Amino acid sequence: MSDEIFDLVIVGGGPGGYTAAIRAAQLGMKTACVEKRGALGGTCLNVGCIPSKALLQSSELFEEAQHSFESRGISTGTVKLDLKKMLGQKDTTVESLTQGIEFLFKKNKVTYIKGAGVLQGGGRVEVTGENSQILKAKNILIATGSEVTPLPNVEIDEKQIVSSTGALELPKVPKKMIVIGAGVIGLELGTVWRRLGAEVTVVEFLDRILPGTDTEVAKTTQRIMKKQGIKFMLGKKVTGAKKTKTAVTLSLEPAKGGDAESLKADVVLLAIGRRPYTEGLGLEDIGVDQDKQGRIVVDENFKSSVDGVYAIGDVIEGPMLAHKAEDEGVVCVEKLSGQMPHIDYNIIPGVIYTWPEVATVGQTEEQLKESNVEYNVGKVPFMANSRARANGFTDGFVKILADKKTDKVLGVHIIGPDAGTIIHECVLAMEFGASAEDIARTCHAHPTLNEAVKEAALAVAGRTLNS
Ligand code: FAD
Ligand code: NAI
Repeated sequence: MSDEIFDLVIVGGGPGGYTAAIRAAQLGMKTACVEKRGALGGTCLNVGCIPSKALLQSSELFEEAQHSFESRGISTGTVKLDLKKMLGQKDTTVESLTQGIEFLFKKNKVTYIKGAGVLQGGGRVEVTGENSQILKAKNILIATGSEVTPLPNVEIDEKQIVSSTGALELPKVPKKMIVIGAGVIGLELGTVWRRLGAEVTVVEFLDRILPGTDTEVAKTTQRIMKKQGIKFMLGKKVTGAKKTKTAVTLSLEPAKGGDAESLKADVVLLAIGRRPYTEGLGLEDIGVDQDKQGRIVVDENFKSSVDGVYAIGDVIEGPMLAHKAEDEGVVCVEKLSGQMPHIDYNIIPGVIYTWPEVATVGQTEEQLKESNVEYNVGKVPFMANSRARANGFTDGFVKILADKKTDKVLGVHIIGPDAGTIIHECVLAMEFGASAEDIARTCHAHPTLNEAVKEAALAVAGRTLNS
């Protein structure tokens, strides 16, 4: 064991861990980050956000070239798919971004140690693997993220029954694909393979898609996706899977009980959620408390039940989102250095990168009703937005929920073109405690999709100008 003592050793180099490492180093802490994957960036950069968005973008372009160009007077001849090249573009993007983090580590003087970290107690982290060593630290930050939630009797082999990771590198387009779980991964990756030519059926346990999302938005998403060709089987429980060399047959039962049925496909994507990843970390040995779902329990400073041990990101409570992990990483180390930042968990946006996109922030109508908060609704369709019309993408709407008495914006729910970009003016408005009137009186450039936000803010007071 060397005599070197780090101010902070971070276990896990995903968005939570690597961002915390950079910020800690900027604040003058001697920082090391231990990552066992062989590349920085975690789930998000390697097998999550970035590769899925690369494929969503490519498959969207493929679909547009096939079906939308002609109506705009652009002839391309037969549009062909080179899947290998499409996957290659995704891989190159991932590689350049993960290497970019190594560069940022060097620039900020963060020590990057490749290997698996095990907490030993007393401020020690054992690193196993080719760089095996014991690190001494004043503080330890666990940022080990999450892993796929398994389903009994539906074993993932990453070929015929795949997780999101396998679904990002299928060597050929399946003729038929079943997606288990109508959540974010199911809809995004189901969309990718539908656009590339697969017949996609989504099987969901509940009687709705996208649980937790504003119901009106979820229903509209389902209707639009159905129109795009995705089939939905709601209220169905998958009880088992049988494989032959070329096909998988799933057995299903109605969730509320009833006759069993079967469904066959070439590839099944299992996407029923993710769970905290703490395997092999040694948490029990040193007394770090976890809740029933396996999440590390932390206080408002991200401190676990053990002094000097902190945790952030997917491995603790809250939405499993890269930007949530990043913000927690920054706030955690700033607090360690004596600063007083905070995160408003009510203002963390969520985006689903289908087309149209779905973007939400704040309370849903269902949540407001449940907590007896009186609110006004301002809702306008993109059909009434001139830029959406010019672009030829008019599906969806902007819905703003504002407090009935104070007019303060409580939630914004958008389904529509580029919703994930548009939502951010609403996130910022909410961060500053804005009213709907504040948004309505803010000058919005014309013609932009964001004018739909202004119009929805006007609609809260019942005085729209263009719809
Ligand atoms: P992770 O990114 O999971 O990183 C944890 C890292 O810790 C991993 O690299 C792991 O190898 C390492 N590790 C674990 N144990 C050890 C150990 N003992 N020693 C050393 N290293 C260890 N979120 C979004 O906000 N937007 C999106 O568009 C989005 N798309 C997604 C698409 C898919 C297909 C998936 C699966 C997820 C997506 N997410 C998205 C979620 C996002 O990836 C996660 O919320 C985010 O990566 C969490 O960051 P993290 O740092 O907490 O953990
Ligand atoms: P999810 O929690 O979004 O959705 C899982 C779905 O599976 C739910 O609708 C649930 O009711 C359903 N389900 C659960 N058990 C089932 C069963 N036995 N049979 C059928 N359906 C069942 O989880 P998902 O899609 O796996 O994503 C995991 C996490 O990754 C999400 O929490 C999300 O935060 C993150 N993510 C974020 C993205 C983004 O921000 N754009 C993209 C992809 C993932």
